Amino acid sequence: MSEKPKYYITTPIYYPSAKLHIGHTYCTTIADCLARFKRLDGYDVLFLTGSDEHGQKIEQKADEAGVTPIEYTNKIVGMFQELWKELNITNDDFIRTTEERHRKVVQMLFQKAYDKGDIYKGKYEGWYCVPCESFWPENKLDENHICPDCGRPLQRVSEEAYFFKMSKYADQWMKYVEEHPDFIQPASRRNEMIQFVKSGLEDLCVSRTSFSWGIPVPFDPKHVVYVWFDALVNYLTAAGIVDDPEKFKKFWPADVHLVGKEIVRFHTIIWPIMLMSLGIEIPKMVYGHGWLIVDGEKMSKSKGNVIDPIPLLQEFGSDAIRYYLLNDIQLGQDGNFSRDRLIGRINSDLSNDLGNLLYRTLSMAEKYRNGVVTKGDASGDAAIAEASAQVEANAAETLQALRDGMNGWKINDALKAVWTFIRSLNKYIDVTEPWVLAKDPAKAPLLDAVLYHLCEGLRITAIMAEPVIPIAAEKIWNQLGLTDFKSALLTDAVWGGLPDGIQTKKGEQIFPRIEIEETKEEAAPAPAKAAPAAEVKKEEAEEALPQISIDDFFKTDLRVAEILTAENVKKSKKLIKMTVSLGTETRTVVSGIAQYYKPEDLVGKHVIFVANLKPAKLMGIESQGMVLAASRDGELVVPFVDMPAGSRVK
Ligand code: MSP
Repeated sequence: MSEKPKYYITTPIYYPSAKLHIGHTYCTTIADCLARFKRLDGYDVLFLTGSDEHGQKIEQKADEAGVTPIEYTNKIVGMFQELWKELNITNDDFIRTTEERHRKVVQMLFQKAYDKGDIYKGKYEGWYCVPCESFWPENKLDENHICPDCGRPLQRVSEEAYFFKMSKYADQWMKYVEEHPDFIQPASRRNEMIQFVKSGLEDLCVSRTSFSWGIPVPFDPKHVVYVWFDALVNYLTAAGIVDDPEKFKKFWPADVHLVGKEIVRFHTIIWPIMLMSLGIEIPKMVYGHGWLIVDGEKMSKSKGNVIDPIPLLQEFGSDAIRYYLLNDIQLGQDGNFSRDRLIGRINSDLSNDLGNLLYRTLSMAEKYRNGVVTKGDASGDAAIAEASAQVEANAAETLQALRDGMNGWKINDALKAVWTFIRSLNKYIDVTEPWVLAKDPAKAPLLDAVLYHLCEGLRITAIMAEPVIPIAAEKIWNQLGLTDFKSALLTDAVWGGLPDGIQTKKGEQIFPRIEIEETKEEAAPAPAKAAPAAEVKKEEAEEALPQISIDDFFKTDLRVAEILTAENVKKSKKLIKMTVSLGTETRTVVSGIAQYYKPEDLVGKHVIFVANLKPAKLMGIESQGMVLAASRDGELVVPFVDMPAGSRVK
């Protein structure tokens, strides 16, 4: 048997910054999606992330907190690890630069470069950015001495230091970058780096003496190794350069270092030159992604625009956050984080397109076939046969588009292709009208074929969507009655893999709709049509809505309510705000009936009221329930009843 191909992908190792923000999750989510995709595609993957714990910044922060640096980093690294768990990140290793396995590699390589004559002693006189841990020579600055990367004030530094002969390798670097056009991606970042090197490469200061939180220089321990030299080496440590030569031989060079755009310079200039000096192969690619921004600015604690990912993950779940980041933000460019767009994507792509597709399909399988799905035969109806063949062809094309997108750094396109396929399955239901087929016993083979095509399409979708929404993908798989999702591979995403006669197991809607705190009138739902857990469409509604038990029905607390006051909601054509009495309590409710009733005609009327509906905000007003109304073809009638307020309706 041939050995599996390998794929080594890394994120940057994060500074233990006390405030986690959603920007931190971006790079790790992209890397996780690619790592999962490669595993699905049969690769042996090494996916690395970790923490960058040394340096002046961390020492200062620990001082401010009144703890030792390691006490400080231990606590925050724990928070990062918790975040990766919440986000469902499948890193194979987590490296901390404070680990012994790393110290010995850094010292060994520093010694090696020194022995080779590429490191020499001198004195650094210049500027330093503590937040970026970056040296800035005078010739790259203006008279304000502000960090060109982060815009914060620089510190004047004057200290004895070791220098690394970067300048010696400038020509070799240029040649390498010319011969390896893929090394720096996307291309715009490559041009930037070429310009940077052309403007002159100075030797790099690689040790510090004005503080002690770092790895000691092996031959001169009053120096600590410069934190970027230390940090970059993590990629070698974790690949096993010292501890596991077999692993190293297999995984090095890394296939890609995924990094934010502000640290592309360290990864594409300093890092390959360090490796050239050490005689170690250069990674195949550094991909610089854009930033997640809020109102046009990078998130940062100092700007006070930080969005904490943990409450978001708790509110919406990791699949939804992952889908939003990977779908809505164009890889390589900056993207604005928007809660409204996040909710929009959940309600449209995840709940409406995917969740409802599964729910509709399995509701019909349950209703018409007790959940058992057999292959059937579509040949008895030309239109259904053609639509079914089209679904099969779409599945194959989507798989190819997924591969192309994931391998070609176009994750957004890959996802668009998968969701186009999902939407095509919804259209297939509308075209084939299974509820009509179900009425005619002679059409049983057609109905079976349609249900099989839907379930098989969903099985293939589950595999293709796993890198992005792994939890939902597994739920789809299990609801289809399949087992052992963990062993599924991309090669299983070909038509016909769903066993004939499988017993499906319909469950809850996998992505419940998010009730929006309404601020726009257009978004307000009409009364009595609050979004159900899973929407089922038109004619199918009567046919395919599942039966519920009397117990389920009694979960809805229906009461007679007396309307005490009613007024039109300002700036709204549709909404009326009312106070209603339930006999023992008074509620505020907002209802979209202004086009059908005048407020004064409502006061004193008794209506049927859903008393245990979760409150929702409409035009900034909290609506604490819902008035029932009947609607048809644009007409709407509120039934009035002649019973005392508080009476139970059942
Ligand atoms: N410790 C260095 C990396 C050393 S790698 C050998 C570092 N750490 S960091 O914590 O400041 O940043 C880690 C990553 O998070 C970087 O790739 C950075 O671009 C990314 N992000 C931080 N804020 C971000 C956004 N708002 N949006 C997207 N990514 C952002 O740099």
